Amino acid sequence: MNAKILLLPGDGIGAEVVREGVRVLDAIAARYGHSFCYEEGLVGGAAIDAAGTPIPDETLRKLKTADAVFFGAVGGPKWDHAPVRPEAGLLRIRKELGVYANLRPAVLFPALASGSPLRADVVAGTDLLIVRELTGGLYFGKPKARDATKAVDTMTYTAAEVDRIARFAFRAAQGRRKILHSIDKANILETSRLWREVVTRLAPEYRDVTVHHMLVDTASMALVQRPTQFDVLVTENTFGDILSDEAAAVVGSIGLLPSASLGDAPPYFYEPVHGTAPDIAGQGIANPLGCILSAAMMLRYSFQLEREAAAIESAVARALDDGVRTKDLAGQSGVSTERMTNAILERLPRG
Ligand code: IPM
Ligand code: MG
Repeated sequence: MNAKILLLPGDGIGAEVVREGVRVLDAIAARYGHSFCYEEGLVGGAAIDAAGTPIPDETLRKLKTADAVFFGAVGGPKWDHAPVRPEAGLLRIRKELGVYANLRPAVLFPALASGSPLRADVVAGTDLLIVRELTGGLYFGKPKARDATKAVDTMTYTAAEVDRIARFAFRAAQGRRKILHSIDKANILETSRLWREVVTRLAPEYRDVTVHHMLVDTASMALVQRPTQFDVLVTENTFGDILSDEAAAVVGSIGLLPSASLGDAPPYFYEPVHGTAPDIAGQGIANPLGCILSAAMMLRYSFQLEREAAAIESAVARALDDGVRTKDLAGQSGVSTERMTNAILERLPRG
């Protein structure tokens, strides 16, 4: 197949890992007879420096002609006091693309069981999918404002927004172990009461899925007490942001987590869950696996290349089985970003 992929490397280690993701995509293209062409765009702090805005019009135009968007990370101390922060560029892209369903799988690679801060017997078998609502809630609700003495953010959801993300999660659960936890704060928040009502109303349409409603504070505890009870979790934007970092820690490192952000129509958006990691940027030691696994999700969800996606995922699992680790997982003995990727390339099938 032919596809045009828009690369938005962004800042810090974002650029370092996207480069590795592209090496893996190129290897897949060569081995399986596909042709990926790339266009590059500015976003985040890099775009502020070059064009005075975290999301130049040219980047917005490029979004329109891409088949998929491959994103690194944005932000960093340099821009913490910029009038418009780098993160605003990312939020604008999510909204612009209408990618309301953010899939964040957190899977424990058996080779990394001892790398979790939790006991190996607690984490063994963890395989969950967070379905995070991505274009609503506190991130986008109006009014959003501040002056010297007061600040306001607004959490808003319409029933239609909850309906579409809940359906997404129900369908995801149907393709997995058929357990859905809907996470909310219905004891306090009106938006959560609406959320719970909508999910409850939909449940009879998905009779094969067992639904549990759980408060977000309870869920954050349950995630470390017994992560294996979860299959699919569906939750609003902010709760999903927080719980996905927690899930990342449970399985060993945030450097491992990929994500796909999907909507009703392409292009869809792929990014590792980690940020720009200013403390290690420029050293060539970032873990590229979250980004490489995001490339696998792109092949699966944007291009329906299931076999190729699975080939990447199994190469990653085998590299970890063989003891190849970046420094976030192995400390000083860890290998460089580039060598980690080489280990994946060596383990890809010939096609
Ligand atoms: C994430 C990140 C982003 C978010 C930031 C960088 C805006 O934390 O993708 O989880 O809060 O959504
Ligand atoms: Mg986050």
